[in-house]
Amino acid sequence: MSHNSIAVLISGRGSNMLALQRACADGRVAARIVLVLSNDPAAAGLALAREQGLRVEALERRGFPSRAAYEQALGDRIEASGAELICLAGFMRRLGPGFVQRFRGRVLNIHPSLLPAFPGLDAQHQAWEYGARVSGCTVHFVDQQLDHGPIILQQVVEVDPRDSAESIAGRILEREHDTYWRAVQLYFERRLELEGRRVMILPRGRSADARQSE
Ligand code: GRF
Repeated sequence: MSHNSIAVLISGRGSNMLALQRACADGRVAARIVLVLSNDPAAAGLALAREQGLRVEALERRGFPSRAAYEQALGDRIEASGAELICLAGFMRRLGPGFVQRFRGRVLNIHPSLLPAFPGLDAQHQAWEYGARVSGCTVHFVDQQLDHGPIILQQVVEVDPRDSAESIAGRILEREHDTYWRAVQLYFERRLELEGRRVMILPRGRSADARQSE
C-alpha cells in the first residue's frame, strides 16, 4: 500500500471524482488518485478521469458467481493499485460486510443530505418532497449499514419553498465539491480519530498517528 493514495469508486457522471482530482492537482489535498474504478464501463466519469490522465478500470458485477466474489475481485483491484483510501463517489452498489471489513476505516462516502435524514436514493428529492428547510451533504466513514457510518464533515444548504428538487440538488452538489476534499485532507493529515460513532478532528500537528505512539 502506498501512502497518500486514493482509489475513487464511481458509477456515473463523476463530478465528485473530478473535484477531488482538482484538489489533489492543486495541492489542497496532499495525495494522488491512483485508480478510478467503476462497476459500469459506460460511466461518464471514466472518460473524465481518462482526460485527467488517471488510471481507470471497470469491473462489472455480471460474470461473478456471487456478490462476495465480485467484491473480492473489486478489493483485489484496489489493493493492486496500492490505494490507501477508498472514496465512494456516486458508487451505486452497496458494499457487503466482507469488503467493509477488509478495508475497515479506509472507506469514505459522500451523500447528498444531512444524515441521518434522507439516506438512500434521491436524497435531494426526498428533502424537497418532505419540505425540509435545510439539507446539505455528508462525508462519512463507510460501515455495514447504508449511509450510516461515523460522520466526518457536513455542510448545510438552505432550502427555499420555491426551490425545485433540481435547484436544491445543484446547490448541494456545489457543497459536495467543497466538502469531500476537506475530509480527505483531514484523513491524510491523520487528524481523524474515531470514538465510537464520533469522529474527533484533531488540531493541526496533533495527528492520530502521533497520539498512538505517545
Ligand atoms: C452525488 O450527489 C453523491 O453525493 C452521491 O451520488 C452523486 C454522485 O455524483 N453519492 P457525481 O457522479 O459525483 O457527479
